[in-house]
Amino acid sequence: MVNYKDLGLVNTREMFAKAIDGGYAIPAFNFNNMEQLQAIIKACAETKSPVILQVSSGARKYANQTLLRYMAEGAVEYAKELGWEHPQICLHLDHGDTFELCKSCVDFGFSSVMIDGSSLPYEENIALTKKVVDYAHQYDVTVEAELGVLAGVEDDVVAEESHYTKPEEVIDFATRTGCDSLAISIGTSHGAYKFKPEQCTRDPKTGKLVPPPLAFDVLEEVEKKLPGFPIVLHGSSSVPQEYVDIINSHGGNLPDAVGIPEDQLRKAAKSAVCKINIDSDSRLAFTAAVRKVFAEKPGEFDPRKYCGPARDEMTKLYKHKIIEVLGSDGKAE
Ligand code: G3H
Ligand code: 13P
Ligand code: ZN
Repeated sequence: MVNYKDLGLVNTREMFAKAIDGGYAIPAFNFNNMEQLQAIIKACAETKSPVILQVSSGARKYANQTLLRYMAEGAVEYAKELGWEHPQICLHLDHGDTFELCKSCVDFGFSSVMIDGSSLPYEENIALTKKVVDYAHQYDVTVEAELGVLAGVEDDVVAEESHYTKPEEVIDFATRTGCDSLAISIGTSHGAYKFKPEQCTRDPKTGKLVPPPLAFDVLEEVEKKLPGFPIVLHGSSSVPQEYVDIINSHGGNLPDAVGIPEDQLRKAAKSAVCKINIDSDSRLAFTAAVRKVFAEKPGEFDPRKYCGPARDEMTKLYKHKIIEVLGSDGKAE
């Protein structure tokens, strides 16, 4: 048993309470490799932003869970080395789908876990979430649950269409499970293709897709039912068109990729939404930078020469999100 407190990590409780009070959101960035982790920590150290480092089960398979955990431990030390005196870093399991997986993360030094029972019938979601909460809380590990189904692919959970969270269920769900935060469905979805072209309009000037707005009415209803309760938004990448254009003009093919406009995320960050999940944008930043190097310098074969620019681009992206979208800069001095 490894306790996250011995690793210098924190759970989400205080982070979320301050974020709701302060009208900002904590960035939850996924990481799978060293360059992503370096970029996240550098961006957060330079902006003094609290951060949630997310590990999906896919990331555990790709990078090895032991290595990822030691990397997170190393991240705390790296942050201090960069001059961040009191780093507030949470290590979080993203989309845990079984009790066993969540337990293994709690036992292994994670400070927060998500149990995603959103594809289960309501009562089964409650039972599974409560089981994880009962275990995790013994070690002061916080638990995120999910109610409502996001469109698209959630790891192994496939949902054909989005089912918005039903506000009338949230009090019962939060009370009976004891979860610390709740991911809701208001129209976001995972990946770089969040909306089908037929759901969007087209900007006549640029020809780019303009997505439909998020269901802020559902969010407001949820907030009324659970005042001050931490709400989470998954699938919150904006799919920056400059990255899509670089990728497409350097040999890639991402037709009609579209994300959540940043003004909508800014609005959400000021509400009870206190955790905003971003993964795809970092993948796009990485890929755009690598494709550019490959196209411009075909003789390059030192990975540092293309992973380095990719890391710099991700750092820029993370800082932009922190300062211009979530407003979490300066909240962890
Ligand atoms: O929720 C999905 C995250 O972006 C993680 O994606 O399962 O491909 O690691 P992944
Ligand atoms: P994006 O695919 O929009 O980056 O969402 C990531 C996410 O929700 C991770 O859980
Ligand atoms: Zn997610």
